[in-house]
Amino acid sequence: MLRPFRKYKKSGREESVQPDFSRLPRHIAIIMDGNGRWATMRGLARTAGHRVGSETFRNIATLCNDIGIEYLTVYAFSTENWARPKTEVDTILALLGQYLREAIEEIPKKNISLRIIGDQAPLPDELKALIQRADALSTNSTGLHVNVCINYGGRAELVHAVRRIMTSGIEPSAIDEDTISANLDTAGIPDPDLIIRPSGEIRTSNFLLWESAYAEYYFTPVLWPDFDRDELYRAICSYQARSRRFGAI
Ligand code: FPP
Repeated sequence: MLRPFRKYKKSGREESVQPDFSRLPRHIAIIMDGNGRWATMRGLARTAGHRVGSETFRNIATLCNDIGIEYLTVYAFSTENWARPKTEVDTILALLGQYLREAIEEIPKKNISLRIIGDQAPLPDELKALIQRADALSTNSTGLHVNVCINYGGRAELVHAVRRIMTSGIEPSAIDEDTISANLDTAGIPDPDLIIRPSGEIRTSNFLLWESAYAEYYFTPVLWPDFDRDELYRAICSYQARSRRFGAI
């Protein structure tokens, strides 16, 4: 297991970035934001930012697996992202396809599992077939669970859950919080402990609305393509410095 001790200098100050690896968040979720700005700042097409962003995702997923995080959920494509220019949508979907192909090779070797969260109906058939294949291979993996949100929106997820519950014929008085959780796209996945949003935006953007009820948020101005190990460790240190009371005293 990778347990490096790392110090870095920021504003002339040396700061320790060493999470306590014995009490890591079980589930980290990330809004991979800032790809477009990262590219534009460099005079590149926005799609170049997504390409580098997908590399960042691979690095962070590998790191999470190495240090023993159990669940990593990333927001890759929202229900609203279809409104972007076709070349940008096509690039993001192609990067997802490329990652799925790699994951299909790596799932058995690395003991990871991959689950796609969100409404797959409008996705291209080729992507759907890759998702099915990755899903089937993931059933016996016990290492890091990677969840990639594609065509996902927290409100849409709740609408689908309500429809499922209503068609199940359950008595309204029998519906409780567990009923809702069990009918979400994330059913069976523990709620996120830590949600990270890079790029300086301080909002949730329809990400894991129900599941984030008691999550700790970490916001950083760093753009997603620049997000690295030190950034992840800083987020974990910030999480570990907080007192989680879940509404109690
Ligand atoms: C948000 O940044 C990012 C996205 C909408 C796409 C994220 C996709 C990837 C990182 C690549 C594919 C993912 C995987 C899992 C292989 P933005 O474009 O909104 O950035 P901006 O706010 O700076 O414009």
